[in-house]
Amino acid sequence: MGAISLLLTLDEVENKQFEFGGGIMIKNNELTKNLIKTSSELNEKVNGDYYRLKYHLMPSVGFLNDPNGFIQFNGEYHLFYQFNPLYPKDKRVCWAHVKSPDLVHWSMLPTALYPSEWYETHGCYSGCAVNNNGEFTLIYTGNVKNKLGKRETYQCIAQSNDGENFVKYKNNPVISNAPEGYTTHFRDPKVWKHDGLWYMSLGTQTEKEEGVVLLYSSQDLLVWNKIGEIAGANTKKLNYLGYMWECPNLFKLDGKDILLFCPQGVEPNGDLYNNRYQCGYLLGKLNYKMGKLSYGDFTELDRGFEFYAPQVSRDEKGRLLLVGWMGIPEEEDSPTVKNNWLHCLTIVRELHLENDKIYQNPVEEMKLLRTNETKYENVVINNEQIRLNNIYGDCFELVCDFSWENVLEFGIKLRCDDEEKQKTLLYYNTKEEKIILDRCKSGLSKTGVRKCKIVNRKKLSIRLFMDKSSLEIFINKGEETFSSRIYPKEDSKNIFFYAQGGIVNLNIKYWNI
Ligand code: FRU
Repeated sequence: MGAISLLLTLDEVENKQFEFGGGIMIKNNELTKNLIKTSSELNEKVNGDYYRLKYHLMPSVGFLNDPNGFIQFNGEYHLFYQFNPLYPKDKRVCWAHVKSPDLVHWSMLPTALYPSEWYETHGCYSGCAVNNNGEFTLIYTGNVKNKLGKRETYQCIAQSNDGENFVKYKNNPVISNAPEGYTTHFRDPKVWKHDGLWYMSLGTQTEKEEGVVLLYSSQDLLVWNKIGEIAGANTKKLNYLGYMWECPNLFKLDGKDILLFCPQGVEPNGDLYNNRYQCGYLLGKLNYKMGKLSYGDFTELDRGFEFYAPQVSRDEKGRLLLVGWMGIPEEEDSPTVKNNWLHCLTIVRELHLENDKIYQNPVEEMKLLRTNETKYENVVINNEQIRLNNIYGDCFELVCDFSWENVLEFGIKLRCDDEEKQKTLLYYNTKEEKIILDRCKSGLSKTGVRKCKIVNRKKLSIRLFMDKSSLEIFINKGEETFSSRIYPKEDSKNIFFYAQGGIVNLNIKYWNI
């Protein structure tokens, strides 16, 4: 795809007059100058890294985390992400900005938000974008560490006339600090309109350190009133689900209200919750007057190793889209760190509901990236391991439809070297009725196994996207997903298919990307 251009060079910035709120010009901002100088010096190192991705969004340099401000505005898709170009030296995050006509070809725009004001000295934290009667508006959290080293949090807005340059509201912040009973971990505004009023969900924690999402409302995005707690961890029903809830999204999907959020502090429970921090959802009905959601069980959204802080957005076609961060906070053990960059976003997914469960599938537009189709039909694998001509590589889409009568285990081995010392396993065990992703021998840094129950229906479909160091897996047309990073050697490109204890029939489609 190659559409992700680098940050502006220092010269370009000197010649550009980006105006900020309060009359501060970016070009006079020392921080910005440093950011840009540092990043252009590092370009060569970053871009020489084999693990750079071909069709995923990643930072031009430095650290990427949450997707922010995902919106289709005047036909174009805009996406922002938390970005720290000076990583690991500095922790002040900015909002990087990309846009796309089709969700797969992205181009980089000037960084949209930098910490330039008193209410955001330690980072422009996560938030969202809305179309406010034609005004492109960002709503985000200003993070401050005050003179005593204590955190302060401010909800802020910024607007743009051209979809590129954002001016901070002169009377920011629009919400100062958390209401009584909650700590200053109070952030990640996600705003939507319902019956003519604006609503905002915010992640926070009670003073007793229980995760909560609060609901606010406003007529004009400027004056906000707290309504109540949409949901919180302090209930038996949720088994005291974590000490902090981050990055909430509240949306309607096929008639149901869904609260998607990231609880921190949830203990592993069998195959569930095995990452350091979690991401999942509650489904039910939101009472807007009370600000309360009635809900059923908490469901983990993705079953891979790296998935966090997703953001959803409804596009002009009415599709509910989702993009996530393919990373986990405080997990920085990656071979890319030495080359001064870390993390990426997932591909964009479309959501729908089946039996009250969120299904995720790659957006239709991902097909635009397909080249060189290879197809096999009715391949029989009888207690053996096979390899197929042309099915080989480190950057591809693969669709496999398996069917069987009697078999114990079957699967795919990806990114294998010739001796199979290096391999990434994705297999199904029909007795356990589990799909298993094993990256113990995948390569550098990351190891471990993730398992997920899938009922044995004597057929299983797997669609997966490999992109150098990222692997996104969609099981049974979105019933489950696994998002993960792996770091194999450049020449580990073999793909094998196998069956043990029986026979499987397999249809395959493969495209290079
Ligand atoms: C989640 C998060 C958010 C915060 C942002 C800061 O990864 O901690 O809660 O706004 O990252 O970068």
